[in-house]
Amino acid sequence: MKGIILAGGSGTRLYPLTKTVSKQMLPIYDKPMIYYPLSVLLLAGIKDILIISTPRDIHYYEELLGDGSRIGVALSYSIQQEPKGIADAFIVGKQFIGQDNVALILGDNIFYGHALEDILLKAVKENTGATVFGYTVADPTQYGVVAFNKDGQVTSLEEKPIKPQSNVAVTGLYLYDHQAVDMAEHDIKPSTRNELEITDINKCYLAVNQLNVILLNSSIKWLDSGTYDGLLEAGKFVATTQKEEQNIIACIEEIAYNKGYISQEALGKIAHSMGNTDYGLYLKKVSERLS
Ligand code: G1P
Repeated sequence: MKGIILAGGSGTRLYPLTKTVSKQMLPIYDKPMIYYPLSVLLLAGIKDILIISTPRDIHYYEELLGDGSRIGVALSYSIQQEPKGIADAFIVGKQFIGQDNVALILGDNIFYGHALEDILLKAVKENTGATVFGYTVADPTQYGVVAFNKDGQVTSLEEKPIKPQSNVAVTGLYLYDHQAVDMAEHDIKPSTRNELEITDINKCYLAVNQLNVILLNSSIKWLDSGTYDGLLEAGKFVATTQKEEQNIIACIEEIAYNKGYISQEALGKIAHSMGNTDYGLYLKKVSERLS
């Protein structure tokens, strides 16, 4: 399965923070926001990843992450000329996806939990059609919302409903087979906000009975950092959790090492290059753990 991180959009909800800086480049405590969705794809075992951003910002992502070889994966970059919606990622990424399955993650979504890796690996392995991940939230009106009947079958999917049918938000991580590209090109139309909505793609899969929903329980933390409060809450959560658990969340180099993508020596070199920062010292500790 291939992966796409969508790090585009105009970020107007975070103005003036994002007037000159890409939203997904903003810090979540000790690292840029994009590390978090990237770490999710890495945990899912995905090694071929396309990053989509704006003409203004794409170069910064390239400079930050390079071609991925440093962490043993392949990263490539594409421009979304205008913010045409999440589902437009399949049109921008058409060549990249080819006939493969694809995981799409939004650049401002943060997932954390010890069970996450197993959940992701299983979902990727078992995906047929589409798989989305539901998460219970207090105010679902800001999200895509999925509702179920008493047998657990999906009864509705709505984008930012005024009167939600349930408290289950559809998070910004989606797994699809290659049909998603065709659906984005031919089966859906721009919404009233003039965007190709990801919820409309999910509705296409629901219509043909190929939409799977995995409910994430409270052992997983999901944060959408696309608002002032969301950004602050995410930073506080990461800082507190890292201190409590003596680890680093979304540490892409550690994940790459644990997955066997890079050697102990390579990890040691990366650690060294980061000097005496907490991040660098942590990587040094990880690289020395088994020696
Ligand atoms: C998008 C999707 C929405 C989803 C959310 C998750 O909303 O349209 O369905 O629930 O991401 O973060 P956005 O916040 O980009 O408007």
